[in-house]
Amino acid sequence: MAIEFSKEETVIGRTLSDLEKYGSEGTGYLGKVVISKGERPVLGRRIRIDLARPHVILICGKRGYGKSYTMAVLIEEFARLPIALQNRISVIVIDTVGIFWSLKIPNKFNTSLLEEWGLKPQSTNARVLVPKGTLSFYQEKGIPVDASFTIKASELTGVEWMALFRLTWKDPEGVLITRIIEELKEKMGTYFGIDEIIKAVEVDKEADSVTKQALINRLRAAKTWGLIEKTGTRIRDIARPATINIIDVSAYRQAIGMEGIREIIVALLGKKLFEERMLYRKEEEANLIKGERRVSEMPLVWMFIDEAHMFMPKDRESIALQVLLEWARVGRQPGLSLVLATQRPEKLHPDFLSQCDLFISHRLTAGPDIEAVGILKPSYLYQDLAKYYEDMPRGKGYALVLDDNSEKLWLIKVRPRFSWDAGVTATAFTV
Ligand SMILES: Nc1ncnc2c1ncn2[C@@H]1O[C@H](COP(=O)(O)OP(=O)(O)OP(=O)(O)O)[C@@H](O)[C@H]1O
Ligand SMILES: [Mg+2]
Repeated sequence: MAIEFSKEETVIGRTLSDLEKYGSEGTGYLGKVVISKGERPVLGRRIRIDLARPHVILICGKRGYGKSYTMAVLIEEFARLPIALQNRISVIVIDTVGIFWSLKIPNKFNTSLLEEWGLKPQSTNARVLVPKGTLSFYQEKGIPVDASFTIKASELTGVEWMALFRLTWKDPEGVLITRIIEELKEKMGTYFGIDEIIKAVEVDKEADSVTKQALINRLRAAKTWGLIEKTGTRIRDIARPATINIIDVSAYRQAIGMEGIREIIVALLGKKLFEERMLYRKEEEANLIKGERRVSEMPLVWMFIDEAHMFMPKDRESIALQVLLEWARVGRQPGLSLVLATQRPEKLHPDFLSQCDLFISHRLTAGPDIEAVGILKPSYLYQDLAKYYEDMPRGKGYALVLDDNSEKLWLIKVRPRFSWDAGVTATAFTV
């Protein structure tokens, strides 16, 4: 049972004891409850969503019904939390499409809709980070970039190099890169870049020259991505507290053979953040025991991933998959939240579905997708999930919300964005 502490609003994603203790503090304004039938239904009380505790949230729905939009609404709410809470949280958005930078720009295009809701256009303070070698791509498109980042070469394991190049143990280059990386780490520690790896391959005595040349070609190509360097960006400079950090990897979207790069970025970020949070969680608990406040330098992290099926597919190996599953399974303890959006829940690894505690679904019509989300089968539904989808208004921004914390289902309309939606009119900005 959810308790309703106010007639005006309801909080989802929060347990009864947290509701009693904190009320609606540390929540974000997500939308309003739909209280009548039809295509332009009456909207009722405001729905707020818990942002203070870790969650695993899945947003799904058909193409163009509002997944990315809903993500942006959630992200906007982090920037509007009380500053003390903001300081404890870092938001990381993995942007594969290149649409979230426009959070910085107030929504001047749809002011009438905002007015209807009693809201005003506003910008959201976000920091756009791009891989160092892709800066010119963003400059040409007029996308405002705040900083660039690189990955430290020695942080990649042999297996990760293989994943980056889409190699397996059956490929001689795969075997070679793993051995070379091991040898380099022994000889040089953590201070080497792609040039040193190429040199090590060149002087290798065991591999044949065709394999060596093939690997060197791949390494040279990797150099042109401008992502992997001797010294990388520190994870704490990426996951800054009180900041919305948008990791825009859309420059790698079109290029064939570059799928591995996005996966490596997510896998390494996810891995490092997990390790750091585990360490700091201990420090925070120790502080609490000493009677001090539960704080440390490393904030809680919320990672947003749009088009998540790219990283967590059920039918193919992905180096990011294991890391993200770990986040979903045990991330709540160290304070790691995941918000994933996908058009095709059916294509997502099923373990992820079973771990999510908040499920926000825009319109779905494909049978396999509805079946896939049927795995959630909460006991608090009184009819088939498919039936709820049939009854949903056809417009954009409507969503079914399943909340395991309060064990309730809601039909809501997501509020309009404060910021400009680059998803619709991205071309208008290049002039
Ligand atoms: N809550 C909402 N209020 C008003 N308009 C909305 C809302 N949600 C979505 N829209 C409209 O629908 C459009 C498409 O939404 P969005 O880009 O989020 O779709 P999507 O589900 O991410 O699609 P895709 O699968 O193609 O990525 C938006 O550009 C916006 O115009
Ligand atoms: Mg989208």
